[in-house]
Amino acid sequence: MQTYPDRDAWAEAAAARLAETLAAAIAERGRAVFAGAGGSTPSPIYARLAQADLDWSRVVATLVDERHVPETSPDSNAALMKRVLLTGPASAARFLPLYSPAVTVDRAAAVAAKALSAEGGRLDAVLLGMGEDGHICSIFPDSPTLKTLLTPDLAPTVLGVPPGRDGAAPPQERLSINLPYLASAGRVVLALTGAAKRAVFEREAAGDPAVHPIAALIAAKVPLEVLWTEAA
Ligand code: 6PG
Repeated sequence: MQTYPDRDAWAEAAAARLAETLAAAIAERGRAVFAGAGGSTPSPIYARLAQADLDWSRVVATLVDERHVPETSPDSNAALMKRVLLTGPASAARFLPLYSPAVTVDRAAAVAAKALSAEGGRLDAVLLGMGEDGHICSIFPDSPTLKTLLTPDLAPTVLGVPPGRDGAAPPQERLSINLPYLASAGRVVLALTGAAKRAVFEREAAGDPAVHPIAALIAAKVPLEVLWTEAA
């Protein structure tokens, strides 16, 4: 875990790592796929990444998870990414949504899986956040999709996630990439802020990879960097 004295240094370090990885993928293969999280953590990182001097016209930007809502919804991660990341130089990137107004969330997940597979079925750079319950993407504890999403030897895919029962997370239907997609990545940056999340990360890292997403991510042996700052 790398620690930073303030949010600016933390956000700058995360954006620099992601930009470096995208630029290397473009140099190597002429294209790059970026997948990022929603929620509140990524915005200062997206704002800096958007200004990176790289050939954004060769980048496909997508999400690691999405709420099953249209972009007009205040809950939409697509709307967040378009508003904060896909601006300035990064507006030249092509956005690949996970949501589609398909009849069911599972149908939408199948549509997204097909679209991501058509981009090569792997990710070059990933920005993750983590909930205080230890979830990453929309891989929630106690969810019926938890174990399937964490199964390491399935093909990379996108799955529909039902809302939690009896007040459990998530509050609404979600779409989520699975752990094999994270394992396919050239680099994963997990950005955390605040003392609470540092403690959650350390607890979860020691968990069972079959049911603890952080432990599963570590067990996947993907190039993972955890960047933390106290400034919540
Ligand atoms: C989402 C995110 C989700 C997020 C965590 C942390 O759709 O909400 O993709 O996985 O990373 O919930 O959220 P915060 O960054 O807001 O704490």
